[in-house]
Amino acid sequence: MAAAGSAIGLGNIWRFPYICGKYGGGAAIILYLAFVFLIGMTLLLSELVIGRRTGSTPMKAFEIMRPQRKGWRYVGLLGLITSFLILAIYLVISGWTLNYFWESVTGTLSSIADGDFANHFATFAASPLMPVVCLVVFMVLTLVIILGGVQNGIEKVSKILMPILLVLVLLLCVRSLTLPGASKGLYYLFHPDFSLLTWEGVLAILGQALFSLSVGMGVMIVYGSYIPKGDGLFKSAMWITVCDTAIAILAGVAIFPAVFAFDQSPDGGPGLVFNVLPVVFNSMGNVGSIVFGGAFFLLLAVAALTSAISLLEALTAWGADYGKSRKRSAIILSIVLALVAVVASFSFDGGILNDNKLAGMSFFDWLDKLTGSYLPPICALLTIIFFGWFMKKDDIHDELSNHGVLKISWFKVFYHILVRFVAPAALIVSLVAGIFT
Ligand code: PHE
Repeated sequence: MAAAGSAIGLGNIWRFPYICGKYGGGAAIILYLAFVFLIGMTLLLSELVIGRRTGSTPMKAFEIMRPQRKGWRYVGLLGLITSFLILAIYLVISGWTLNYFWESVTGTLSSIADGDFANHFATFAASPLMPVVCLVVFMVLTLVIILGGVQNGIEKVSKILMPILLVLVLLLCVRSLTLPGASKGLYYLFHPDFSLLTWEGVLAILGQALFSLSVGMGVMIVYGSYIPKGDGLFKSAMWITVCDTAIAILAGVAIFPAVFAFDQSPDGGPGLVFNVLPVVFNSMGNVGSIVFGGAFFLLLAVAALTSAISLLEALTAWGADYGKSRKRSAIILSIVLALVAVVASFSFDGGILNDNKLAGMSFFDWLDKLTGSYLPPICALLTIIFFGWFMKKDDIHDELSNHGVLKISWFKVFYHILVRFVAPAALIVSLVAGIFT
C-alpha cells in the first residue's frame, strides 16, 4: 500500500491525462501500457530485488552487491540526489494544491470570475508569502509521518489515505460521467489517433511511465528492503503497477468529460489543474465548487503526500544506514529541503528570483527539467545495467523465487530479454533522443 502510495502521485493526476490527450488519446494509452508493464515494471522489480536482497538503502545496497567495485555506489548516491531534487520541486507544487484545497472549501475560488483563474494562479504562485507557508505546512506534515516510523507512520497513514484517494477519484468520475456531453471527453481520452503520436510523445510517455512508478532514484530499493522475506516480489510489483495505472486512467476519466461538458480547452497542459478545472468546478454551482473542487484538490494533496513520504523516507533511511539517528536526519533534511523549495518557489514565473537565470532558465525550470527529463532515466539506466550485467544471476533468481519456493517460469524472459536488452535499449534511445531533439 505504501509503495502504491509512492507511485500514485501528482504525476498520475495532472500529468498522465494531459500527456495522453496531447499525444493521441488511445494511441498514447496503448503505448503507455506497453512501457509501464514492460519497462517500468522491469525496473520496479529490479529495484525491489536489490532492496530486499541487501536490506539496505541505495548507496550501501550497491556496495553490498558488488563489494570489489565501489564505484557503483555512486549510482545509489545519484539516485538519492535525484530524490532530494524531486522532493524539493514536489514540495512547491504540493503546497499549491494545499492552497487550492483551502480556497475551494472556504469558497474563495467560487467567487472568482471564469476568465480570471489564470491570473489568480499567476499572482498566487509569484507571491513571496502564501506558497512558502503552504510548502512549509506540507513539509511538516510529511516530516511528522516519517517521525512516526515505518510501521506506525508510513504504513498506518498509507492504509488510511490510499482508500480515501480511491473514493475521491471514483466520486469525481461519477460526477464527471453523469454530466451532459461527457462522452466527448471520453472520446478525446480514449479514441486512438496515431497521427498525434510523435517521437517527442513517445519519449514523454516513457518518461511518464518511469516517473509514475517512482523508479530510477532508489526509492523502491528502500521500500523493497522493507518487504517481508516470504512475500512474492513479482506479485508486489504487479499490484503496484496495476494500482498506479488504474488511478492514472481514472484521473483522466474524472477530468476530461467535465472539461468538455463545460466547453473548456483540454490542452491546457500543466495549467489544466489550476486554471481550467476551477472553471469547471464553478460551473457546478456554489455547492458543486466547494464539494467537487474541494474533493479534487484534496485528492491531489493526498496523492502528493504519500509520494513525498516515500522520497523523504529514502533520504532518512540513508542517513540511518550510515549511523545517523532517524529523527535527526529527518529533521535536518526537512529544513534543508524546505529552504531549497523556497528558492525554487521564488524563482517560479513572476517570483522575486525569477530574473536570475542560468542559460535562460530559472532555478525552478532547471529543477523541473533535471528531475523530469534527465536524472531518473540516467539513474534507471545505470541501475538496470548493474542489475542485468553485474549482479549474479543466481542471486536474482533466488530472491525472486524466495529461495526456490515460488515457481517463476517467466524468469528467462524477464532476465535475458527485458532486463538485459529491452529496458537498457529503450532508456538509451530515450536519453539520446531527449538530449539531441
Ligand atoms: N510517482 C510519483 C508520481 O507519479 C512521483 C515520484 C517519483 C514519487 C519518484 C517518488 C519517487 O507523481
